[in-house]
Amino acid sequence: MFNYYATNKNTWADSCFAKQYAKNIGLNPPEIAIFSILKDKLSGRKLLDIGVGAGRTTPHLLEISRDYKGVDYSLAMIETAKKRYPEVNFQVADASQPFEEKDGAYSLIFFSVNGIDSLPHEYRIKALREFNRLLAPDGYLVFSSHNLGFVPGILKPWSWKRLHPAPMSLLTPLRIVKRMPRWIMGMWRCAKNLKHVEKYKEYSILNDGTEGYKFLQYYISIAEQISQLHACGYSNVRPFGLDGQELEPSQYDSRNDIWITYLCQPVRK
Ligand SMILES: C[S@@+](CC[C@H](N)C(=O)[O-])C[C@H]1O[C@@H](n2cnc3c(N)ncnc32)[C@H](O)[C@@H]1O
Repeated sequence: MFNYYATNKNTWADSCFAKQYAKNIGLNPPEIAIFSILKDKLSGRKLLDIGVGAGRTTPHLLEISRDYKGVDYSLAMIETAKKRYPEVNFQVADASQPFEEKDGAYSLIFFSVNGIDSLPHEYRIKALREFNRLLAPDGYLVFSSHNLGFVPGILKPWSWKRLHPAPMSLLTPLRIVKRMPRWIMGMWRCAKNLKHVEKYKEYSILNDGTEGYKFLQYYISIAEQISQLHACGYSNVRPFGLDGQELEPSQYDSRNDIWITYLCQPVRK
């Protein structure tokens, strides 16, 4: 079976993404909601920010605790994060590999903006189990993942909106000419990746158009993500929508947010 792990890892290694992500600041609404719940509980404790990218989340987590480490498997991302925050502990590390820290070392593991969706299914399960091992008994895992309920909303590669997302204006012809090569390249990549798309009842691996169809991404329904977390040894799973609202079970099937942010805790006997 095709393993898209290397494709995604090589793509993230491209320094163009580090430049792009270095512009990002601020937390998104579900992160704001979750950290307002966790702030006091995590004060001064050990935090691990996985897939930290260029450090968008770093200053926000440092406000909670100075005992902070940011890791990413892209060297370009880590170098950029180090330039932005030279005093911070950043390291290159891959979430699909075992970490060197001992059991229960961290009070928070945070894997933001769907970084986990770059991992194939088996690697994802291994990573969730490893995070569980690394978490203190009263620790928290916070991560986001693409939502299967959004899939009908994914634009087709040939969609006009992909070529021209802005409202019509005098600049429209100019914008179209500028975007045309990327649009055509996207359709070509999409056609090439079609054979790697996998659709199961529980989850799908999709080439959804992210960054010009360069990535294959894991999409999972809310109910299935909760079951997957239970199977990996977590409880108290709380999903949050893009608007920052915590979701009720009655909303799970109807939510079409592109991604959902999950807060959960390891089960300890
Ligand atoms: C969408 S970016 C988000 C970056 C940052 N968290 C932010 O919110 O700006 C996803 C990040 O996860 C990283 N990533 C993906 N899979 C990873 C893995 N297995 N181990 C470590 N980092 C990973 C990528 O290199 C990328 O920097």
